[in-house]
Order: sequence, then structure tokens, then C-alpha cells
Amino acid sequence: MRILITGADGRLGARLWQTLEAQGHEIIPSLAMQPDITQLDAVRDFARQARPDLVMHLAAYTDVDGCAKDPDLALRVNGIGTQHVALACQALGVPMCYVSTNEVFDGEAKTAYMEYAPTRPINPYGYSKWVGEQAVRELLPRHYIVRTAWLFAPGGANFCQKVLAKARSGQQLVVVTDEIGSPTYADDLAEALAALVATQRFGTYHLVNEGKASRYEFARHILDSFGLRHVRVQPAVLADFKRASRPPRFSPLRNFQAAHVGIRLRPWQEAVEAFAARELA
Ligand SMILES: NC(=O)c1ccc[n+]([C@@H]2O[C@H](COP(=O)([O-])OP(=O)(O)OC[C@H]3O[C@@H](n4cnc5c(N)ncnc54)[C@H](OP(=O)(O)O)[C@@H]3O)[C@@H](O)[C@H]2O)c1
Repeated sequence: MRILITGADGRLGARLWQTLEAQGHEIIPSLAMQPDITQLDAVRDFARQARPDLVMHLAAYTDVDGCAKDPDLALRVNGIGTQHVALACQALGVPMCYVSTNEVFDGEAKTAYMEYAPTRPINPYGYSKWVGEQAVRELLPRHYIVRTAWLFAPGGANFCQKVLAKARSGQQLVVVTDEIGSPTYADDLAEALAALVATQRFGTYHLVNEGKASRYEFARHILDSFGLRHVRVQPAVLADFKRASRPPRFSPLRNFQAAHVGIRLRPWQEAVEAFAARELA
């Protein structure tokens, strides 16, 4: 397939590109050519010239605190930008896969969220991604909406890299015990996304590594897996930190739909260990 990936140079985009290319797909665009998704004409022109069979839309304004400080910008990129990509897909008659987030949920649940749970974003990032979901549903019958969470990957400014950088530079690590989610290895997600878009089973999916963790448990397991067992992590609670954005407190996802089409991701602990083994090799 010819697959257009937006946000192809992002944390997930880079892994997805590699995975799909290794499977023999042709990936567009070259990095220099990526259009600004807030510009409808640019997105439409680019898509028309690219002639993709499928668009995988990852581009987003992902700085959650930045989104909280400038909610209009978040909406322009994540909401309207996604609408533009969906309109381009509609004009070409091609399906779209939109990567969304656990932050469309309010975090008040007692068990992991399934795909059918009511959404209620509680911060501007989550709201803007939710607006993007609505645009995709309204405009395109052939869509995949894939919610994921707490990505870790080589490089970039994700939680895992921040924990490692602090630990290695001897800074004190203070991590919350009352924010619970689903840590997810970008490589595992890329494999799962590639498998999903081959199914033609359109719909809304959750794709995260199995299980749940607090930020504290996640940090502890990262350190243990990277040979930093001696580094101490001081537990804290969300109320100890002043942040622009408020995260959902309890937002683990359950991959119910994905299991139904035969897609399974390993437990997050195994994924962290695999990531560490690869990074340390
Ligand atoms: N990271 C997570 O933990 C997480 C969790 C749940 C869901 N997600 C979703 O997964 C997707 C990928 O996340 P990620 O962490 O890989 O993101 P990322 O590393 O922040 O990359 C985002 C990409 O979007 C591009 N982008 C931003 N604004 C754009 C615009 N106006 N026009 C065109 N491109 C634009 C960026 O390009 P530049 O570098 O040129 O700005 C970058 O390539 C996103 O949709 C995100 O919402 C992520």
C-alpha cells in the first residue's frame, strides 16, 4: 500500500514508518514535504499529489501543558487539523487511521476503559483530540480511531527518557503514585497499528501494552530494567505539583476490540524490559 503518515518524524511516527516500510509498504512523504495540517488547501493539495491508499494521521500538538496554556492552538492543530486530514481523505475516497489518546476520558472510572465508554475530556489537550475524533467519525465511514497512552520510545522527551536522564545525572526523582495509566512501547504500538490497518475492520480501538501502572511503578520498573536499581524514587501525589494541565487520574485502557480481531500487545513490564535490553545492547 501507499501510506501517507502525518507526523512521520514524531516519536511514534518514526517507529511506524520503520515498521510499515519493513513490511513492504511505500511511505509518503519525505520529511521535507510535510504540510501544516492547519492549512486545508496545503493538506488537500499534498494528499492529491501523494495518491495514498491509506492516511495514518499522527501529527498533533502533544505538549499537554502547552495545550492548557493555549487551548485555541490545541483545537486548531488537533481538532481542525484532523478535520482537514479527514476532508482530504473524503475527497480522495481513502480510509484514515487517527491516533487518539486516553485523555479523552475523565479518569473517574474504577476499571480500565473500554472503547465504548463515554468520553469526557477534562483538559484542553484531551478535548482537542476528542474534537478530532468527532470530525473523523462524521466525515469518514471507513476510519480507524486508535486510542493509546503513555508512549515510550528511543529519544525524544517522553516520561521514560526523563526518568533515565534525571537518574543518570543524580537528580532527585519525585514521582506520583495517584496517576494510573497504560505505559505503551512505541514499537509494539507500531506493530499493532500495522496489523490493524491490514484488517479493514474499521472502528474505534484501544491499543496499549497490557496492564496498568502508576507513574511511580512505571518509573521504578524503568530504573530496575536499565540497571539503576540503586536509584531511589520518592513517592508523591498529583496535588504536590502545580501543572497547567490536569491529567485523568485513572485512565488505563483495555484493548477489547483489538483482541476481537486477534491483536494482542504484551504486558507493559515486558515491553519496558525489551526496550531496556535493546537500548543497553
Ligand atoms: N506521546 C504519547 O504518550 C501519546 C499518548 C496518547 C496519544 N498520543 C498521540 O499519538 C500521536 C503521536 O504522538 P507522538 O508522541 O509521536 O507525537 P510527537 O513526537 O509530539 O510528534 C508530533 C508530530 O506532529 C507534527 N506536527 C505538530 N503540529 C503540526 C502541524 N500543525 N502540521 C503538521 N505536523 C504537525 C510534529 O512535527 P514537528 O516536529 O515538525 O512539529 C511531529 O512530527 C499524536 O497524535 C498523539 O496525540 C501520544
